[in-house]
Amino acid sequence: MKKTIKDINFEGKGVLLRVDFNVPLKDGVVKDDNRIREALPTIKYLIERGARVCLCSHLGKIDFKDAEKTPKDMAKNDMKFVAPKLEELLGQHVYYVDEVYGSKVEETWANLKAGEVMLIQNTRYIKGETKNDETLAKELAKNKDVFVMDAFGSAHRSHSSTYGVAEVLKAEGKETALGFLMEKEVESLSKCVEASEHPYVAVLGGAKVSDKIKVIEALLEKVDKIIVGGAMAYTFLKANGVEVGNSRVELDQLDFAKTCLEKANGKIILPVDHVVADDFENPDVIKPSDINIDEGFMGLDIGDKTIELYKEALSDAKVVFWNGPMGVFEDSRYEKGTRSICEYLASLDSAFTVIGGGDSAAASKQFNCKEKFSHVSTGGGASLEMIENNGVLPGIEVIEDK
Ligand code: 3PG
Repeated sequence: MKKTIKDINFEGKGVLLRVDFNVPLKDGVVKDDNRIREALPTIKYLIERGARVCLCSHLGKIDFKDAEKTPKDMAKNDMKFVAPKLEELLGQHVYYVDEVYGSKVEETWANLKAGEVMLIQNTRYIKGETKNDETLAKELAKNKDVFVMDAFGSAHRSHSSTYGVAEVLKAEGKETALGFLMEKEVESLSKCVEASEHPYVAVLGGAKVSDKIKVIEALLEKVDKIIVGGAMAYTFLKANGVEVGNSRVELDQLDFAKTCLEKANGKIILPVDHVVADDFENPDVIKPSDINIDEGFMGLDIGDKTIELYKEALSDAKVVFWNGPMGVFEDSRYEKGTRSICEYLASLDSAFTVIGGGDSAAASKQFNCKEKFSHVSTGGGASLEMIENNGVLPGIEVIEDK
């Protein structure tokens, strides 16, 4: 069992809290504050117990290989855009410092009082962050008494701020613990990892088979059925000899898809009809299609028969893991498949329903179903890796045991 924040006395302690504030921004404004909201219980717990809290997170990606892109990426992913939203949601002043480490950080930290909060610049401003650079880990650990990991969305990364800093503090005899969000995520996703309740059904969608190879292989060992939608379905259908017209297909994944279907022994369920169009952006014709798609048309959503087939496959499920939409749900012309499956999952009262982050979480919000799911993960990549690696993630492993 990993240590959690409930196992630590925070009175007078200086805490480095790793959160996942990698939130979508548009023109410097936070477009979805869910990850910030989800971090609040841990932040409040720490400050209410007399800790001084230094928050850190990455934000977006910084391309250090392309000298022209680096400053643009930095300007776009400046943590200063997140600070006002955090301050608003937390309801108290947040001391924001526009550097990851250095004299300004040290001065603010030295003056911070019990119950106060500071936020530092995007950890990815430092090139070594994603390489788990020890110098950065040591800077982050400087003058801290405790490291708390609450960034579930980044727990699959062995970076300086998610992994290295915990190693440094442990070597100094300091404490490390998981926050409330990590605990909640691990507890819920463990049901999908352990697969102790059946029927267990996985719903997989999204664009690419190549992104899901490892999770499909892991899930085949655990689940009773895998329902496939989204563009990845067309690669599987083509591998099965179905005509897919102009649909998006990954030709280099056809062999994997074929082997996978053979190995799955009927566990993988594919669409039997579709909604197709003659063009993605400006179609002249959008129409229903049976399983074989006409030349010149591409599949953009699952069809009505498939919706019924999938509902039937889900009807007696005890556990459901959903990752990836059934079609291009952002466009109302192709949203029906994702909407129907989402609403059906939300109505399954006797099933433990988990959304593995990303687009499916956005879909559940768009269709007003989010609250009805048992768990909506804040980490798309992390929840997939948790299933792939049987519950093992570096950001969890590095935290000390009780
Ligand atoms: C995410 O959004 O999936 C996490 O914040 C991790 O981000 P990353 O893929 O850039 O490491």
